[in-house]
Amino acid sequence: MAPTLLPVQEILQGGVVPKDYLQTKEDYQFGDVPPALMDTPTIDFSLLSSSPNELTNLYSALSSWGCVQIVNHGIPESVLDEVREMSKQFFKLPMEEKQKYSSKGNELEGYGNTNAIQQGSLNWNDKLHLHVYPQQKRQLQFWPQNPHHFRTSLDEYSKKNHMILELLLKSMACTLNLKEESFIELLWENEKEDNLHARFNYYPRCPMSDNVVGLKPHGDGTVLTILLQDQHVEGLQVLKDDRWFRVPVIPHALTILVGDQMEVASNGIFKSPTHKAVVNPKFDRFSLAMLFIPSLVKEIGPLNALITEDKPQLYKRFKDYGQVYTQSIPSGKRPIDLVKITY
Ligand code: OGA
Ligand code: NI
Repeated sequence: MAPTLLPVQEILQGGVVPKDYLQTKEDYQFGDVPPALMDTPTIDFSLLSSSPNELTNLYSALSSWGCVQIVNHGIPESVLDEVREMSKQFFKLPMEEKQKYSSKGNELEGYGNTNAIQQGSLNWNDKLHLHVYPQQKRQLQFWPQNPHHFRTSLDEYSKKNHMILELLLKSMACTLNLKEESFIELLWENEKEDNLHARFNYYPRCPMSDNVVGLKPHGDGTVLTILLQDQHVEGLQVLKDDRWFRVPVIPHALTILVGDQMEVASNGIFKSPTHKAVVNPKFDRFSLAMLFIPSLVKEIGPLNALITEDKPQLYKRFKDYGQVYTQSIPSGKRPIDLVKITY
């Protein structure tokens, strides 16, 4: 079993950044400093079911960037603020208190440093990872009781995210002239088996911020990720055409990232972007990623309607993408490269 690493927050108390966290030359392969802002229009979520123009914008953002921000998504600002606040409060608790929720060994769930299964230099990131759906999979021993409303707020926030996911999946199908339910039937059908994980990220400020990275470049292994960014501190960057772009802070927007399983389901039309989180020298940064992952027993592959003579099947079919993810780690490749079919 890999040794448990100290939370980054603790390391920082020592005042020295350990060399394992310092980035190597290869980590800077697409170094373009400072990167430009991502300039795709935000989507007015409330117009998606009525405005063809909004659907076109959604299609264009997700097929080129794989990332877009949505506003008017129906989650009240007060709920977003509350969720952000409780996440900050959790990470600010005394270490002994937080360690009651620590992950054990290589377990995904719980509080701690994210680097247990990691190659090369380490991420400047602490996290709290919770399995939210299906409901019977909740391991409440990892769900903080302090702040006292943590559990109910996360529950409420998760339900609202679930509603957003459904409308997004329907809208994405509509942009491809598919039956509205096409992606839902393939990817997110069964309440008892489909998975939603919540990952609270904490990126402590770092005096050597240019030499560390919050989360190394990666693609999400999800269908979609709904990210609640910090409302003050920027940090998310996406890769497009081999250049990094900063994703702007829009205080009450939600950031949508296409995950690998949606890239597969759409036979490559929607792009799962390589993205990373950078660290700020002066300010701590928080984010909450809601990760939608289909039932592990379900076969996932490109929708038949999207396989044509002009566009052959570009990805293999698989079950449980988590296994593909794990297999990809020693190679250093992106997991999606392991399921690509080359002709
Ligand atoms: C993630 C992620 C980015 C961020 O949790 O997978 O990419 O800005 N987070 O925290
Ligand atoms: Ni990510």
